[in-house]
Amino acid sequence: MNESRGYGDSTRSVVAVSAEHVPGAPIQPGPVFAAPYQLSSEEGSETDTYARASNPGWRALEAALAELEGARYAVVTGSGMSAITSTLRSVLAAGDTLVVPADGYYQVRLYAHERLSPLGITVRETTTRDMGSPAFADAVESAAGRVVVVAETPSNPTLDVVDLRTLAQVCHRVGAMLVVDNTTATPLGQRPLELGADVVVASGTKTLSGHSDLLMGYVATANEETAASIGRERLLSGTVLGPFETWLAHRSLGTAGLRFGRQCDNAQALSEMLTVHPAVRSVRYPGLAGDPSFFVASDQMRRFGGLVSIELESAAHFHSLVESSALVSAATSFGGIHTTVDRRARWGDDVSAGFVRISCGIEDTEDLLADFERALDSPHLGR
Ligand SMILES: Cc1ncc(COP(=O)(O)O)c(C=O)c1O
Repeated sequence: MNESRGYGDSTRSVVAVSAEHVPGAPIQPGPVFAAPYQLSSEEGSETDTYARASNPGWRALEAALAELEGARYAVVTGSGMSAITSTLRSVLAAGDTLVVPADGYYQVRLYAHERLSPLGITVRETTTRDMGSPAFADAVESAAGRVVVVAETPSNPTLDVVDLRTLAQVCHRVGAMLVVDNTTATPLGQRPLELGADVVVASGTKTLSGHSDLLMGYVATANEETAASIGRERLLSGTVLGPFETWLAHRSLGTAGLRFGRQCDNAQALSEMLTVHPAVRSVRYPGLAGDPSFFVASDQMRRFGGLVSIELESAAHFHSLVESSALVSAATSFGGIHTTVDRRARWGDDVSAGFVRISCGIEDTEDLLADFERALDSPHLGR
């Protein structure tokens, strides 16, 4: 049709990619909103002028995430790490104190030590379990400057749980800010803001988007000033979520409840089976009645999540498990539709060589259990 208007090839190419946005479809190709022809002659009246500042795709995804987290505001970012770093850069300054989990996702600790310490921020590490202790409350009280506590519960990879209501009270008594990484639980498993947290940060790369095909993160909060400051950090640092990832994540959220429900069911059944399996030395799952986290997890979690951690005898036993299984593969991300396993000592976590974090997928429960039974009974495992 454009050809019949007598356009040349370059004009035809430009017009051909400028398709009308279909209402309800959140995908917005970046160049449309980066382009000057979106600006109105009434300067300053536009909602969207440049994709790194704002765009309709983000608004749709942020509205959905805010709804799931029970937040007033959500800010989507290019990865879980950028959600965390944007938050910390927005709220901390020289002379302040940051407490990070000693047993949480290791790159958060690396960022704190490598990037925030040199700016004059005191970085302390505390295990998730110790965050519930009276000694921790004393340490928060005597810390210098503004204090920001990052909790990760259940922690990755050991799946310890901290009582968020009590931790929020401890923090707020001395004016500290509580930031909770909700990656492992997801907002379908736990709503930290309702338990007293000030800010939720999370990687949506995992269970929420759920197909292991994108990186994304988000921050959720009830505080307008905090949300605006984090949005400004995103604008100025450029740690943005691309339009295709935005669209994919938004599309995937609709099935998150179904996927997460099956992952939780599989994790519960698998953890119960592995607890009595002779090739498995120990099992951690917050939903296991005998687990040290069970009591607190039952009180504050809506679902116990899709991650199970176990200890096998050695790294060789882990490799035999992967080789003998038909359904399970080795991968370091988690939360996807396939069941995967990760030997965490490989990445430097303070765990034994045979420590394995299992991410349950959405396979039929009986098939998954039978596959683990078969793989663990394999002669390679040397039982
Ligand atoms: C608990 C937790 N928080 C944050 C992150 C970082 O997320 P991303 O890889 O999306 O940057 C991860 C990644 O594994 C994680 O496990």
